[in-house]
Amino acid sequence: MRGIKSIREMRDWSEEQRLQKKRIALVPTMGFLHEGHLALVCDGRRRGDLLVVSIFVNPTQFAPNEDFNTYPQDFARDRKILAGEDVDILFHPSQSEMYPAGYQTNVEVDQLSQFLCGAERPGHFRGVATVLVKLFNIVRPHVAVFGKKDYQQFLVVRRLVEDLNFDVEVVGFPTVREDDGLAISSRNHYLSEQERTAALCLRRALGRAEALVQQGERDGKGILQEVKAEIANEPLARLEYVQLCDPENLEAIETIQDKALLALSVRIGKARLIDHSLLRA
Ligand code: PAJ
Repeated sequence: MRGIKSIREMRDWSEEQRLQKKRIALVPTMGFLHEGHLALVCDGRRRGDLLVVSIFVNPTQFAPNEDFNTYPQDFARDRKILAGEDVDILFHPSQSEMYPAGYQTNVEVDQLSQFLCGAERPGHFRGVATVLVKLFNIVRPHVAVFGKKDYQQFLVVRRLVEDLNFDVEVVGFPTVREDDGLAISSRNHYLSEQERTAALCLRRALGRAEALVQQGERDGKGILQEVKAEIANEPLARLEYVQLCDPENLEAIETIQDKALLALSVRIGKARLIDHSLLRA
């Protein structure tokens, strides 16, 4: 595995591979790698001749009051893990390489960014969209793999690729979970043992909603009430949002007709945890 820090070097490498008709796969990450990231890496490996993994903790997607300064990092460990995963390039630019003095351009995906996490984290998806456009232009992948754990992020990327005519195939990979159902996340690291147990309320609440729909419940209000009750039952959890929405455009829906996305965000201790379930009538 070759490590590349400079944009120039990354572009030269991609140019050379493209001239040789190689298919380049990209898995963008912010590091502190876990099994969820590694599942994406394996999938990316299959989808291209060559695999680039990027590690960049992107400052522009964190609001001033968020955890940018404490976001967990362990670059030496990440590099060691990726070296054992048949990765061709580890692209890890510095902040000044990505956002040099004078930087002032941003990419906004208007509507999709306003719902769910976008409403709680103003500017978050602008930062995500901007850094991904930059990564696509630097790495020039043929295919890029994203986790559906961050479902809204996946929709935002798909939209921006379509709208801005990027020649990149966007792949969504299913959520990787711990044995007990908790969606794996770098932020789970913030949880104490007690909070880790409390975090199971997310999966419990989604499971409750799934069961209700299976029993024939179609009324959004009733389902949301049950989900809220599950979260309220857990003293360490504070519900940030729960919403039932159209899985394509994220607009709120009141009655489940065909498919509905049930998305929730819960704060437990210092961690903000998100999860979702695709409900089918
Ligand atoms: P990060 O949180 O490091 O996640 C990198 C990728 O791993 C994302 O596509 C995310 O959805 C995926 N991922 C994380 N946990 C997962 C899990 N349990 N199962 C499946 N996939 C999972 O998301 C980001 O970084 C950033 O916003 C980024 C896209 C890199 C832009 O800065």
